[in-house]
Amino acid sequence: MTQDVTISQNEGILEFRLTRPAKKNALTIAMYGAMADAMEAAERDDAVRAILLTAEGDMFTSGNDLADFAQAASSGSAASLADLVRFLHLFAETEKPVVAAVSGDGVGIGATILLHCDVVVIAETAKLTMPFTSLGLTPEGCSSLLLPKLIGDKRAFMMLALGEPLSASDAVAFGFATMLVDAAQVDVRSRDAARACVRIPPEAMRITKRLLRDKKAIRERIDTEVVLFQERLNSPEARAAFEAFFKR
Ligand code: COA
Repeated sequence: MTQDVTISQNEGILEFRLTRPAKKNALTIAMYGAMADAMEAAERDDAVRAILLTAEGDMFTSGNDLADFAQAASSGSAASLADLVRFLHLFAETEKPVVAAVSGDGVGIGATILLHCDVVVIAETAKLTMPFTSLGLTPEGCSSLLLPKLIGDKRAFMMLALGEPLSASDAVAFGFATMLVDAAQVDVRSRDAARACVRIPPEAMRITKRLLRDKKAIRERIDTEVVLFQERLNSPEARAAFEAFFKR
């Protein structure tokens, strides 16, 4: 169990609330494990009709916990990222609707995870950044497949290769996010969106989601990216970047 994510279920909504604001909601392997377990249970539970991802504090999430990455790099074991990959597969493949409440900046997987959400409510002040290459890493979360489709090859290069941020207003304009709202409204509006999903007959919702997403292609790309990403974690470029971050 971890205290860093609060998992609750109310009125048909399974909520993951990131509660690690002192570390900018950086996602640890323990947090992925807890969320993956809850997703697996939700898949078997007809009472869960929507999933809501929210966060406490001034950031949505600063992405993967870099201490965990440094640890995974030094152990050299693929097993250390198993819960991250398990969570990604479940989150990308669920046929229950997923709503994200992006109240502050999203970094790394804090941005790529939104590619798998059906409704993204984003604060006007938020930015989305994917700084993989400057960490010596490569794209994850199927971003190399889904991002160019969504925002075009040139903008995807700016984000994924050069690490340029995307503003919330551009995220909505390019179809990466659904609704631009005042930061104070993010929680309320995302909860409204989740409730609207709960009101839809679940079987019709499930079939619609299945038609909208090419799950096979998404799984294949996630797995291809994971192999490359794990190789990069052990690279001198990545080790140097992790060391520099913790020496700041
Ligand atoms: N992994 C581990 N720890 C993280 C973290 C991460 N991804 N992001 C933030 N933290 C920690 C910091 O080390 C710091 O810990 P400390 O108080 O014990 O020193 C704390 O969270 C607050 O972060 P800080 O950097 O002081 O806040 P900031 O507002 O100046 O900067 C960020 C916020 C997100 C810009 C900055 O923390 C950052 O760049 N984080 C790394 C983002 C990243 O590269 N993610 C991985 C992508 S694959």
